[in-house]
Formats: sequence, C-alpha cells, structure tokens
Amino acid sequence: MCRVIGATALLLILALPVQAGDVTYPDEYRSWYHVKSMVIDQQHALADPFAGIHHVYANAAALAGLRGGEYADGAVLVFDLLETQDAGHALAEGPRKLLGVMARDARQAETGGWRFEAFAGDSRSERLVKDGGQSCYACHTDVRDRAFVFSQLRP
Ligand code: HEC
Repeated sequence: MCRVIGATALLLILALPVQAGDVTYPDEYRSWYHVKSMVIDQQHALADPFAGIHHVYANAAALAGLRGGEYADGAVLVFDLLETQDAGHALAEGPRKLLGVMARDARQAETGGWRFEAFAGDSRSERLVKDGGQSCYACHTDVRDRAFVFSQLRP
C-alpha cells in the first residue's frame, strides 16, 4: 500500500513540468482591467516578434501599482498579442501569437523584481522564455523609473 502511494507521489512529482517560482498561466486575465491596446505594423523596429495588435491587462494588485507607482508581490500584467487581419477597411483581431506575462516577485532581483514569461499562441503550457527573463528585462529597463512597466493609465 505504502509503496503504491509512494510510487504515485513520485509519478505526480515527475509529471509536474512547472518549477517552483515559475509564472502560472493567468487564467482569468480577460476579466482584469484593460489598460490599453496598440497595433504594431511590419515596418516597426519591434515587428519581430511584436507585430500585431496587443492588449495590456492588469490584475487588481497591478492596477494599484499603475495608480501608485509601487507594485506588491502578486501583481500581474499581461501582454496579449494577436495577429491583425485585414477586414475590408477595418483591422480585426486574428489568432493569438503569444501571451506575455510579468508577475511581481520581489525575490526576483536579477530581473527587477518581476518574473517574465511568454506562452506560445493559445497554449497554457508552452513557455517561450528560456533565459530567465533577461532579454525581456533588458528592454524593460528603459522604464526602470516606472518599476519596469511601460504602460500607463489614461483617463
Ligand atoms: C525590445 C523591447 C521589449 C522586449 C524585448 C520585451 N518587451 Fe515587453 N513591452 C515593451 C514595450 C514597449 C511595452 C509597452 C507596449 C505598449 O505600450 O502597448 C511592453 C509591454 C509589456 C507588458 C505590459 C506591461 C508594460 O510594461 O507595459 C508585458 C506584460 C510585457 N511587455 C512582457 C514582456 C515579456 C514577457 C517579454 C519577454 C518575452 C518582453 N515583454 C520583452 C517592450 C519590450
């Protein structure tokens, strides 16, 4: 009996692909606060990989951070990037390209107190960040004085 439980526990541990401290997929982000949207076209310097239409969302803790300038642990910002589709003199949302996530964790000092992750397409498990978030962070240091967050609230 014990051996069965032991083996089951071992299997469960081995089946867990996510390491402690990894960013979890932000399941409910579409019901969070919508901060802004932006279209990046193919001529933009950041077209690879950011061409498309993206929407930025903030959970309640991140919204408090956007308002007050300081982000508590647990604050999460999402960068939801979709392809654009020409819809006859209109630009519509196409398939999702990736979902970028910044999750506040003050222990993560090497990347400014944020964990960076990106999920491919509609996948909740295919993770794109392979360098601990260093390349994401390197660009986000442009806004070090805003706690590494580019987006700002507007009325
Ligand atoms: C070359 C620069 C650059 C790189 C690299 C970059 N970002 Fe960003 N990121 C931006 C800019 C600029 C914005 C603001 C977009 C806007 O204003 O709509 C942004 C916005 C975001 C946001 C919304 C919060 C905010 O700061 O506005 C998240 C979340 C995010 N990025 C995650 C990531 C992740 C995860 C990576 C790495 C996989 C990454 N970013 C790599 C430039 C970059």
